[in-house]
Formats: sequence, structure tokens, C-alpha cells
Amino acid sequence: MLNRKGIGIELSKKWVKLGQQRLEEEVSNHTNQKILEGDSREVLKNFSTDSISYIVTSPPYWRILTKKTHEKKRKDRSAKGFDTNYGFSKNDLGNISDYQEFLNELSICFKECFRILQNKKYTSIIVSDFRHGSELVPFHSHVVELCQKIGFKLQGIGILVQNSKKLYPYGYPFAYVPNIHHQFILTFKKAVL
Ligand SMILES: C[S@@+](CC[C@H](N)C(=O)[O-])C[C@H]1O[C@@H](n2cnc3c(N)ncnc32)[C@H](O)[C@@H]1O
Repeated sequence: MLNRKGIGIELSKKWVKLGQQRLEEEVSNHTNQKILEGDSREVLKNFSTDSISYIVTSPPYWRILTKKTHEKKRKDRSAKGFDTNYGFSKNDLGNISDYQEFLNELSICFKECFRILQNKKYTSIIVSDFRHGSELVPFHSHVVELCQKIGFKLQGIGILVQNSKKLYPYGYPFAYVPNIHHQFILTFKKAVL
């Protein structure tokens, strides 16, 4: 809407189409906006080094929408006609079963983001922590660590409140299991001397 040039990357044809539809409906002049369909690990290789002035990404959740513990949530989404999964593609990072391998593959994308970002520019990564069995996985802190290893400097942590989400009585009456109704907006800077 600010007439900037924008390039989006998405693996699933369905979400690419939805993105294009939103551009058509919500942005009157979207000639400068492109959505590329493909695997980010490959597509990002085609971008020149130091060519992009801002990156925002909401990476896949690790198997979050297919978990057994989310059965009730999945039924509620199905009843409303919503998808309960982002897709079944083998290239969908969210379908990688091992968490460490998932982080490694995500890291490939973040390394490419670092390469193509211009120096002194910013990247925002939107992520949520999640539960795995009885444990809370602090995914946002793992993303901070891997981006710092790549060379990004952490500039800020914002909270995206999702207080319109339904509350579920997880654990009740045996354990205290808080609902997660926020995401983190992690903002990093590329600052190479
Ligand atoms: C949490 S969703 C974010 C969707 C959208 N960008 C947004 O912010 O509303 C993660 C998206 O990553 C896509 N995805 C998963 N693996 C991918 C890959 N290897 N390359 C590109 N996109 C991928 C999924 O299809 C899914 O739409």
C-alpha cells in the first residue's frame, strides 16, 4: 500500500493463490509485488547478495498443527471449514519430524536471508513458542541463537498479541498448562563492518 517493491516466497500453490488474491483485493497498484512459488531454500539462492532492504518472515511451525495434543483445536478449525495443516509437501519445513533437523533447515533460509540483505538493514521473524508433550519449547530463543550464530544482531523482541484466540482448559484439573496467545516479533540487524 506504500508502493514499495515486494517479493514473497511460499511453497504451497494454495497459499500463493490466496496471497495473490489478497494483493488484488487490498492493494490497488500491486505491479511492484510478486509472489514466487517454491522452496525458500532454493528460491533464495537466485537473489543477489546485498540486494534486499527488509525481510519479514513467519516461518513454519514445527509439526504444530498435526500434533495429537491439538486434536480439539483441529476439530474446531475443521468445523469452521479451515485448514488444519499448512500442507503435506516433503519440502514443507514444518513436516520435518526431528526438531534439530528442522532448526538446521530453517537455518539454511536465515543464512540466505543474511546474505541477500543489505548491510545495516533489518529482518523481522515472527515465531511462537509451543508445547511438545509436557514441555514448553522456547522456539523463539532457539531462533535468536541460530540467527546470532549466522551474524545477525538482535535489535528487538516485540509481542504480537492474539487475544482473540479461544481459551482451552489444557491440563485441567491435574496440571497448570497456560494457553499461548502471543507470538514474538524478533527483529535483527545485519551489521557487517
Ligand atoms: C506460519 S506459515 C506463514 C504464512 C504466511 N507467510 C503468513 O505470515 O501468514 C508458514 C508458511 O511457510 C510455508 N513453507 C513451509 N516450508 C516452506 C519452504 N521450504 N519454502 C517456502 N515456504 C515454506 C508453508 O506453506 C506456510 O504457508
